[in-house]
Amino acid sequence: MRHLLGIDGMTRDEVEHLLDLTAHFVEVNRRPIPKVPALRGKTVVSLFFEDSTRTRLSFETAAKRLSADIMTFTASSSSVKKGESIRDTVQTVSAFGVDAIVVRHGSAGVPVQIRQWTDAAIINGGDGWHEHPTQALLDAYTIRDHLGPLDGRHIGIVGDIKHSRVARSNMWAMTALGARVTLVAPPTLLPADIGGWPVSVVHDLDRVLGDLDVCYLLRMQQERMTEALVPSMREYSAEFGLNLERSRRLPEHALIMHPGPMNRGVEIAPEVADLPNAVITEQVANGVSVRMAVLFQLLGSGSQLESFDRGGSA
Ligand code: NCD
Repeated sequence: MRHLLGIDGMTRDEVEHLLDLTAHFVEVNRRPIPKVPALRGKTVVSLFFEDSTRTRLSFETAAKRLSADIMTFTASSSSVKKGESIRDTVQTVSAFGVDAIVVRHGSAGVPVQIRQWTDAAIINGGDGWHEHPTQALLDAYTIRDHLGPLDGRHIGIVGDIKHSRVARSNMWAMTALGARVTLVAPPTLLPADIGGWPVSVVHDLDRVLGDLDVCYLLRMQQERMTEALVPSMREYSAEFGLNLERSRRLPEHALIMHPGPMNRGVEIAPEVADLPNAVITEQVANGVSVRMAVLFQLLGSGSQLESFDRGGSA
């Protein structure tokens, strides 16, 4: 694996390998000093053309815990404001000598496109509606951690599927791992063509609640909606929001998940987000370990891993 551009097309073995690697870094992150020298001398740059809290901080934390140097680029405070192109920006950043570029952009395909302008490994930190692979990996890890292998598990992804790169990457990851995915949304929040997707679709959350092992709620991405796709947020919430009453109809072991940022009171009721089976902050915590695994896989060398297992600081 030279880049991480998306989950679509990855094999089950490749996904599982990254989750197994994540488990090593979860252990590292539990140590009093959660830092290993694995990527000393490597430089990672986060190139974010779109806003982010979790993904960016998480990659930066991951790089630091692997002892890599990290450079941060934010489009809103860069020469992009002066009209510099993505190509010139990537070539400028590459000229500093970077080993990996984590890129987030509002347009699908930008991570694939920039490969030709740099020798650095490219990691997709979210591109338009297309993919957000590390989010799917941290979600799959979180589920596996609680429920064991995903084989045969039923995962409901609820809400604004149309604008969601998280839904797409998760659907590929979870089905690759043997889970059954049901998309739950009103027809207006589904993409026009989902013929080739390995999923079932229902328009009624109440119909599937009792059968779900995971209820995965998506944020209503109002900034991406150019027309009124739901009558009102209140009506959306009444039909598709996970309120307390609905949460009680989930099986007892079922997990409640959300990629963040949450709109409390829209897709998820405020008190539901704080239930014991809502693992939303665990998802965030696992995000650091997953991103350490990805950076290590792309930039590290396998022999170093053994020294982490011994608790060593090579
Ligand atoms: C998501 C994103 O930006 O794709 N957030 C995240 O990375 N955790 C989901 C969202 O914005 O709704």
